[in-house]
Amino acid sequence: MKYGRIAGWGKCVPQKIVTNRDLEQTVDTSDEWIVTRTGIRERRIAGEGETTASMSVAAARQALDRAGIQAFDLDLILVATSSPDYLLPPVSSMIQDQLGAQCGAFTLVAGCTGFVYGLATAQQFIAGGAYKNILVIGAEVISRNIDWTDRNTCVLFGDGAGAVVVQASESPTGVLSFVLGSDGSGAEHLIVPGGGVVMPMSQRVVDERAHYIRMNGREVFKFATRVMGKAAVEAIEKSGLTLADIDLVIPHQANERIIELAARQLGLPLDKFFINIDRYGNTSAASIPIALVEAIEQGRCTENSTLVLVGFGAGLTWAAAVVKMGVLEQPRFAMWRTIPGRAKTRARLAMGALSMRAGAFLLPFYTRVTRR
Ligand code: ACO
Repeated sequence: MKYGRIAGWGKCVPQKIVTNRDLEQTVDTSDEWIVTRTGIRERRIAGEGETTASMSVAAARQALDRAGIQAFDLDLILVATSSPDYLLPPVSSMIQDQLGAQCGAFTLVAGCTGFVYGLATAQQFIAGGAYKNILVIGAEVISRNIDWTDRNTCVLFGDGAGAVVVQASESPTGVLSFVLGSDGSGAEHLIVPGGGVVMPMSQRVVDERAHYIRMNGREVFKFATRVMGKAAVEAIEKSGLTLADIDLVIPHQANERIIELAARQLGLPLDKFFINIDRYGNTSAASIPIALVEAIEQGRCTENSTLVLVGFGAGLTWAAAVVKMGVLEQPRFAMWRTIPGRAKTRARLAMGALSMRAGAFLLPFYTRVTRR
């Protein structure tokens, strides 16, 4: 079984909405500037107690439920994030524990591109025959790494998590091809300079606000428009398909203008692109899985749809994958699936005993009626 079907999907976003109007009260910006330059109208910001792990677990539970499996069925958990709860331990192990899974787990850092890197990695474990059920999560509480006095960055980002279960399958579904790229020469364009090995946490780091994201927006914009269309085309070529076979492109939601330029480069109409940046802003590694989940919920991604997932981010990195959706099983028995294994077995036995009793009770009536 060499294919990895997307068997389950889920998302979690914080309750708290911060609108552009709210930001007008705190920094020198305007709703008009943010909407025309980025397409963002509002974003979700994690409240107290909401963490990368807690949102990941919520998204993962939905994905497991839809896939019809329990956490202990998982063989591997892969978490893409640039905002883990702690530097150590890896947030992936916290998520594994909170889900009650008994498998390996690791965190993958590739900026906003991380989820596509994760999906491609999961596909390799399945193609190699090592694993059957892999949970891939993209999650961020990036709001805690943002300088809320810096209008260049604070208007852009939001928090959230998205998760998928990749399951071994014999039919050609899941990741059909992928392209992964990195150009570290552009590292300084999107960086948190302080708090790492080069500039360990100190009063100086705090005074210089070096523990927050610093971004050269124009350079990142140029880079994004250079790589998005190119990576998508390369991934499509590798899959043996053509642009005409693509039903929907799910791009990283960083800036609506970047998405429009990518559409133009690819020669595809904008309605072939899924866009939800207006409601969430840039949720970094969570943006593509959240968009994928919403595309399914809105019926834009349906059974057997062929998708291109494409992103770019800190590193600088980029990635694209052609993904064929298989059967989209709906959570018809969602309640049933939430019952733990042992309780389910007891319920099945009770139902069996009940129907045997009912059978024994009804049998004499049945024989009397059929004899007449
Ligand atoms: N409100 C009002 N004015 C602003 C704001 C703001 N929030 N932010 C910047 N400006 C001002 C600038 O100061 C500048 O003023 P000046 O001309 O007096 O110097 C002016 O607006 C224009 O600035 P530009 O940088 O040229 O604006 P641009 O049209 O390039 O848009 C933006 C800026 C939105 C940041 C854009 O460059 C962009 O989206 N870049 C990509 C960013 C990105 O995708 N980052 C995430 C990468 S993914 C990851 O891994 C996290």
